[in-house]
Amino acid sequence: MTTAFAPARVNLIGEHTDYSGGLVLPVAVDLGTTVHGERAEAIRLRSQSFGDEVELAADGSGDAAGWGRYVQAVAGLLAERGRPAVGFDGSLASTVPIGAGLSSSAALTVSVSLALCDAAGFSLAPLELAHLAREAELRAVGVPCGLMDPATSLLGRRGHALLLDCGTEEYSYVPLPPGIAVVVVDSGVRHTLEHSGYAARRAELERGLAALGGRRPADVTLVEAATADADDVALRRLRHVVTENERVRRFVDALRALDRPALGELLRGSHESLRVDFEVSTPELDLLVDLAYEHGAIGARMMGGGFGGSIVALADAGRAESVAAGVVEAYGRGTSAWVCDSVDGVGTNTRSL
Ligand code: GLA
Repeated sequence: MTTAFAPARVNLIGEHTDYSGGLVLPVAVDLGTTVHGERAEAIRLRSQSFGDEVELAADGSGDAAGWGRYVQAVAGLLAERGRPAVGFDGSLASTVPIGAGLSSSAALTVSVSLALCDAAGFSLAPLELAHLAREAELRAVGVPCGLMDPATSLLGRRGHALLLDCGTEEYSYVPLPPGIAVVVVDSGVRHTLEHSGYAARRAELERGLAALGGRRPADVTLVEAATADADDVALRRLRHVVTENERVRRFVDALRALDRPALGELLRGSHESLRVDFEVSTPELDLLVDLAYEHGAIGARMMGGGFGGSIVALADAGRAESVAAGVVEAYGRGTSAWVCDSVDGVGTNTRSL
């Protein structure tokens, strides 16, 4: 039997920076997707969380709809990389709310990849698997996302945030101060990245990147970005990315020094930049961020792709539950909030029994 658990991610800071080779600072958290089952002739997966059943040939060929498109893309890409055509019969359960900005699709693709690899006695290095999961998302639903979500699911470390440079793919771990809790509050506004402006934002940023002559935003100054030869929209998208990379660097220092005011200002700065320059926030997310500060959070900002989904807030551990409850009550739309624990990435969670 195989059991593969892939955690969801909460990104502390570094939003919409991954696909231009920038810096991100996510945490793998105790929500996730578990695939449980065994080798079989064909691929058959059932899920109460997602409804219906997926049935494909062992190499991923066949007809797929809904979440089956992700399974099919993963199986097809693994076959292209040499995974023997071994089937898998099992079930999939997820505790990640879908469309809430917690990377439910990466938890799905990573857990299915691991289960299929394990069943076939095949393996890929974590970052290779992260690239495969990213490609699967593009193939399944056409969303050109970056490396952050699957990389966090694979490389996360309990008690730490993952500082990942998506350009060089170097990473290190930044300890989470024990007295600080990570809170997520769902706006209840559902985004589906395949129908949102994610690809449009990325294309707008590309126009700005073209004017940098091959240099990545993480390596240019604000003045260089502001004077690049591009249209106004592209320049604003670029300004977000350049300033956000810098905020990640400063946030790491603030986390190490446990400088609460600096953490709060950097999270506020990130949110404002995403709202004004990148234009991916919504009035509901803006409201939740304001409420989080009002209810005693150290800082808060919208999280993930945007156009709906959740906010992330940092709070003193002893106050986290009351911050979360206060925000949910003041928001008044019967939404959910989580005080998340950090967990290890899948490397330590997959096992063959
Ligand atoms: C989504 C994508 C990620 C990343 C974020 C924004 O979660 O899957 O790759 O681009 O949006 O930071």
